[in-house]
Amino acid sequence: MADQYQDDHSLFPVPARLLDPAQCPKPFVSSLDQYKKMYRQSIDNPEEFFGKLANELLTWSKPFHTVRHGGLEHGDVAWFLEGELNACYNCVDRHALTDPNKVAIIYEADEPNQAERITYGELLRKVCQLAGVLRAHGIRKGDTVAIYMPMIPEAVVALLACARVGALHSVIFAGFSAEALRDRVHDASSRLVLTTDQGKRGGKTIETKRIVDEALKTCPKVETVIVCQRTGAEVPMKDGRDYWWGDEVFKHPFYTPAEDINSEDPMFLLYTSGSTGSPKGVMHTTGGYMLGAAATFKYVFDYHPGDIFACMADVGWITGHTYIVYGPLALGATTVLFESLPTYPTPSRYWELIAEHKITQFYTAPTAIRALRRLGDEWLEGHDLSSLRIIGTVGEPINPEAWHWYNEKVGKGRCAVVDTYWQTETGSHIITPLPGAITTKPGSATFPFFGIDIAILDPVTGKELVGNDVTGVLAVKRPWPSMARTIYNNHYRFMETYLKPYAGYYFTGDGATRDKDGYIWVRGRVDDVINVSGHRLSTAEIESALIMHHSVAETAVVGAPDDVTGQSINAFVCLKPGVPVYSMDLTRELISQVRKVIGPFAAPKKVYLVEDLPKTRSGKLMRRILRKIVAGESDSLGDISTLADPSVVEALINKVNPPP
Ligand code: PRX
Repeated sequence: MADQYQDDHSLFPVPARLLDPAQCPKPFVSSLDQYKKMYRQSIDNPEEFFGKLANELLTWSKPFHTVRHGGLEHGDVAWFLEGELNACYNCVDRHALTDPNKVAIIYEADEPNQAERITYGELLRKVCQLAGVLRAHGIRKGDTVAIYMPMIPEAVVALLACARVGALHSVIFAGFSAEALRDRVHDASSRLVLTTDQGKRGGKTIETKRIVDEALKTCPKVETVIVCQRTGAEVPMKDGRDYWWGDEVFKHPFYTPAEDINSEDPMFLLYTSGSTGSPKGVMHTTGGYMLGAAATFKYVFDYHPGDIFACMADVGWITGHTYIVYGPLALGATTVLFESLPTYPTPSRYWELIAEHKITQFYTAPTAIRALRRLGDEWLEGHDLSSLRIIGTVGEPINPEAWHWYNEKVGKGRCAVVDTYWQTETGSHIITPLPGAITTKPGSATFPFFGIDIAILDPVTGKELVGNDVTGVLAVKRPWPSMARTIYNNHYRFMETYLKPYAGYYFTGDGATRDKDGYIWVRGRVDDVINVSGHRLSTAEIESALIMHHSVAETAVVGAPDDVTGQSINAFVCLKPGVPVYSMDLTRELISQVRKVIGPFAAPKKVYLVEDLPKTRSGKLMRRILRKIVAGESDSLGDISTLADPSVVEALINKVNPPP
């Protein structure tokens, strides 16, 4: 079965430079044997392995005695039970106390040459003041605070201030529309929203506060909005609800203690899309999440003091949470916060950034690599990328062409390439190369991280496919510290989505192959989730946005392969009787409908207005057929005899690929 994929099995050993102490700091894991030994320990004796790591990497205000409790079967996973620690203390105080002048954040603003540096000492003062504001506005441990902010240092301050007072932050990516924001604020019962006047990205202005105002029209529970000034534009302020960040923080002292937090106290919510319509508030708890963030940051990015780490994700997604904020700051690193786009003002922006700040680890998404590769190698010329040691990717499978380009043109063949596989729910990397130890294959995330007991299951029987050269669905056999604990207010859905489909396993929703050499290749989602530019979208969510349009009778959304974005959204729409089918305006209206309900990043690339959808006699939509048609595989549709009306297929093929 594994043979159906054209994998690139060329082997890339650890670059010699990484193992030469004259050139690079010695990697924490510097041979395959050492990785295997540590991995074995983490599986054979997780209590000892993770107990030791948790004490080494984190500072606990009260020690834990029980390393691990519960399991996947009952969905009662808990780590470091009696222990108490504050995530903010771990990320800020302990470094500010020992090295206050060390740079914590390099803020690379939208316009080039405006970088700002924030030290750990300054970060502590800023975070304490905002924590004071939160407390003054009645936020207490266990409350949820919504954060809808662009990529500015105050966004990091916002996350940390919530953690300091024990409030759960619920960051909503600032590309979400007012309606999507409203749904998330409402679901989490957030009483306070942190936002900005406007945002800046790629030279464009984003009306952040106006979107918040629109969203809050139907969120009566929100009592307070704190507005940070990004541009200084005049924006409407509602009396008694809206306060300027700048005015509020000045009321509060530069130090306020961090709350004692139990290891299993919730730390944050992050909404993500699943197979069904409504987004789910994935909940992470404190000790386990922090350990996952810190441990993967140490071992996967091989962080050494003096390194300058740059993750290009947005803080609104899990990658931003774990690898812009919590992982790097937990270890006292310098982390880069990039507000702009890789192509703004020119496609050299990443390379300028690396050269200017002497970045040692660089982490981005395959979609950005593909887009930059297309624009031509000349944009890389003249930029000194020699500071780089490790270059990483995340969010979607990376195709070998993009991998080779990244390795050769960016890494110059002298950096380790880490293709990191993980999810919002896993909290931190779960399958990834370790840069000093693993020989990589382009497009494979290689081997599991410590403590991750991978299983590939037969999708139908649920039986584990042991050994090599197997393809099935990807699952994990035992709990790990940073796994999500629940879906906010819906533990039932958590169980049904992740732990019940294959009893005793955590189900990732992805398909995977373990090849003949034991390397893992993640193939993409096996559910109705689409991955566009590393953004996870549910077909059901887009369909329900479309169906709200008065002309739409029925719709089916599928992902089509796309050279740059990985997948693109293709929507098939049946109109209500009497609505004229051939209308460009209507197509535009439908696209803007999705932008309005979810956000611009969810806009369908193609909308096909069709007479009928392929359904079985019992009325079940056969998405498989649509997926094949948009992938240009109409000649291998498989069995269509179960369709109520097989002639529908011909019409759909003609619609997608009109005959000349
Ligand atoms: O399908 C997998 C894909 O992204 C999904 C998780 O999406 P999200 O929760 O938004 O988190 C993205 C950032 C961690 C996964 O189920 N995915 C993520 N990383 C990879 C990947 N697919 C293949 N290779 C990867 N390295």
